[in-house]
Amino acid sequence: MARTAILNVMVQAATKAGRSLIRDFGEVENLQVSRKGPGDFVSAADRRAEDIIRAELIKARPNFGLVMEESGVIEGTDGQHRWHVDPLDGTTNFLHGIPIFASSIALERQGQIVAAVIFNPVMDELYTAEKGRGAFLNDRRLRVAGRSELPEMVFGTGLPFIGKGDHGRALKELRHFMPEVAGIRRCGAASLDLAWTASGRLDGYWEHDLNSWDIAAGTLLVKEAGGWVSDPDGKQGFLESGSVVAGNEYAHHHILRLLKEARG
Ligand code: IPD
Ligand code: CA
Ligand code: CA
Ligand code: CA
Repeated sequence: MARTAILNVMVQAATKAGRSLIRDFGEVENLQVSRKGPGDFVSAADRRAEDIIRAELIKARPNFGLVMEESGVIEGTDGQHRWHVDPLDGTTNFLHGIPIFASSIALERQGQIVAAVIFNPVMDELYTAEKGRGAFLNDRRLRVAGRSELPEMVFGTGLPFIGKGDHGRALKELRHFMPEVAGIRRCGAASLDLAWTASGRLDGYWEHDLNSWDIAAGTLLVKEAGGWVSDPDGKQGFLESGSVVAGNEYAHHHILRLLKEARG
């Protein structure tokens, strides 16, 4: 299916940022790194990638608002559109030389996410989706996994790091999931956890305490690949709360149940 003009703008921004990330990944030991909190790093690579994406998006649509991880919020003048931008999702992986990271860009129109791009430049994997038009990996149509039995399923999740999140809740959840499933992965980039759920590599995924820039693009991908997305109570509003559950219909259902049991 031909891409719309707006999706092309997003693809251009993400692939240009990806080239910058690849250059910096090759020189990772020389990068300037600082901390936003105890385990929360930001590097010159994050900033360079964000500068590239911001410039591309503003050049193409100067009136749209922006919600960006590193440079914050820019209010738009059109009042209808906002970009959600994570220039480098998976900074900790990146800084450790682990090639699982991506740029993530989503477009919100009148409160709904309508277009998404996630690009992993190391694997050269470009994920795209538009509302009502399906999800794609490098132009191949995506479909969530077909598995329905919990013991066959592999789930992705995120674990809180030093100084952030509820460590006790994470341990309780893992204790409930581990005896029931084929495997649990902590890949280190929420956008890719969702993209991999859309592509069926993961059967499902859950995580808490995220931000809109981590999950706005990936959740549209999962929905457009035929998956289900909600917060841990089965409600919408995950973009605001930052707690998200995604998967095929069965995985989504199993994860909601296990999270409820873990809450006690
Ligand atoms: C992080 C990643 C990670 C998730 C963290 C996020 P960042 O984003 O998505 O998988 O567990 O909570 O903050 O900081 O690398 O863009
Ligand atoms: Ca970060
Ligand atoms: Ca992120
Ligand atoms: Ca980031």
